[in-house]
Amino acid sequence: MNEYKTIAPFYDWILYPFMRGIRRNVLEIVQYLKPGRIVDVCCGTGDQLRLLQQNGIKALGIDLSAAMLKVAAKGANPVMCFRQDATAMAFRDRSFNLAIVAFALHETEWEKARLILQEIHRILKPAGKLLVVDYALKQNSGSIARSVIHMVEFLAGQQHFKSFLRYNRKGGLMKLVDPDHFTCLQNRHRAFDSIAVRLFQKVK
Ligand SMILES: C[S@@+](CC[C@H](N)C(=O)[O-])C[C@H]1O[C@@H](n2cnc3c(N)ncnc32)[C@H](O)[C@@H]1O
Repeated sequence: MNEYKTIAPFYDWILYPFMRGIRRNVLEIVQYLKPGRIVDVCCGTGDQLRLLQQNGIKALGIDLSAAMLKVAAKGANPVMCFRQDATAMAFRDRSFNLAIVAFALHETEWEKARLILQEIHRILKPAGKLLVVDYALKQNSGSIARSVIHMVEFLAGQQHFKSFLRYNRKGGLMKLVDPDHFTCLQNRHRAFDSIAVRLFQKVK
């Protein structure tokens, strides 16, 4: 996974203004849930993990990109991340209370995204929680937000953009999630109705 090689060192700097509110939103939900073991699946540079850590919450992350993981391991506040494929994670069944997956499902091939959700279901404890942050573009999403998101995804590369368009065309997260695996507990829309922060609970 080399597509993040160039952007990884600048990723947090570029996205910080847009992400700050959402990262805090995730932190508030985690503080409210007070879960035990937490994993950030496709954690990227570990930005969310760092905010959790700064607020006294222990969590670990996994990602496939060596370049993103290098950023996660650097700086004054390195976070604990491992190189793993989210479609086949090296964790035992039922070993986490909460999994977070942010801005990763939209850029993944549809069947791979399904596999990631299946894997998360496998590693979550009974009644474990899944917190997903991702695009949820609708007709009434703000037009500036829609344009900025399309531009960012277009600049991220052809394959990335194709996956993003497919994700939206197919109906996004709610079409990906298997209702036999997860039930939605909470759905908050952010950024002019273009991004959703959704909390699920493992069903069985
Ligand atoms: C847009 S970034 C989001 C990173 C982070 N979650 C955030 O909120 O900033 C998507 C991340 O998903 C990772 N990723 C994509 N497919 C993956 C897979 N199969 N296994 C692990 N990581 C994956 C990429 O390497 C990248 O770091």
